[in-house]
Amino acid sequence: MLVTTGSFPFVRPRRLRQAEFLRSMVRETRLVPQQLIQPLFVAEGALKGPISSMPGVVRLDLEELAREAVELHKLGIGCIALFPVIPPSLKNDEGTEALNPNGLVPRAIAAVKKACPEIAVMVDIALDPYTTHGHDGLLDKNGLVDNDETVEILRRQALVYARAGADIVAPSDMMDGRVGQIRQVLERDGYKNVVILSYAAKYASAFYGPFRDAVGTASALKGDKRNYQMDPANTDEAMREVELDIAEGADIVMVKPGMPYLDIIRRVKDRFEVPVAAYQVSGEYAMLRAAIANGWLDEKKALMEALLCFRRAGADMILTYYAKQAAQWLKESAQ
Ligand code: PBG
Repeated sequence: MLVTTGSFPFVRPRRLRQAEFLRSMVRETRLVPQQLIQPLFVAEGALKGPISSMPGVVRLDLEELAREAVELHKLGIGCIALFPVIPPSLKNDEGTEALNPNGLVPRAIAAVKKACPEIAVMVDIALDPYTTHGHDGLLDKNGLVDNDETVEILRRQALVYARAGADIVAPSDMMDGRVGQIRQVLERDGYKNVVILSYAAKYASAFYGPFRDAVGTASALKGDKRNYQMDPANTDEAMREVELDIAEGADIVMVKPGMPYLDIIRRVKDRFEVPVAAYQVSGEYAMLRAAIANGWLDEKKALMEALLCFRRAGADMILTYYAKQAAQWLKESAQ
């Protein structure tokens, strides 16, 4: 860029900021509801209802879920991500309920598809909602998650959900080689069009706390997930993880958590020519809600800025508990 020194500026960046027509003409990044994915918690009976560490987020029963899907679709949201809350009586050390074709997730998929066939349904592939110990896979003798045994179950879980009508399966477990195994079984059994969105660079983060309250794994979880989720200190390792998942057949790769990890999103987007998803996780939601509740942040401005920053960092799509609210605001501002 040519910079003239010595004379008063002829180059005035402020010129393009003086009026909204100019600002919106030169705006580099935009956000539309179609880029938002709404995570939803599904529960039955006494387990449904509000989540104290996520004010404004509710565990929905199947009827409420179906109604919510219709409303989200009307607002332009194209995809929901389902997270089941499993009663303790159905949990065991192996998480076998994950393979039940009549389990909560398959029934939730059916309920959504019946009410709103147009909305895409994404489901997590991992065992943590189903295990008594709260880990994403099977534990070995030393209390570590056994990679290969876990992958064997995850591929079956993916098949159960694909049969139930899931459009997108999202392995969130961080086992090595699981994307390839899931891709193989989907191809083999006639589900070649099921999309794999892999949690490719998923960090062992403190920001998942409220989610674990929501699905009831917080108190159950023994130890932490650092022997399979990534070290928050690392960035080269994220490139390796993403590269492997793409090679194994992932269609979309995700970075998680979101806002503290925007540098990872940018690196992934610059390096790989694939769609990138970001997850604004439960702890980020809780932080925003707490500051907003105290009157310290303006809800709409802070939230819309945060979501736009995900787009600027290179995320093509964003999972956010604020998806519905953001879509409503986007609709209002378009009118
Ligand atoms: C489970 C899973 C987690 C989240 C999504 N899928 C929690 C975890 O890994 O412990 C976190 C989402 C959030 O915090 O909003 N595999």
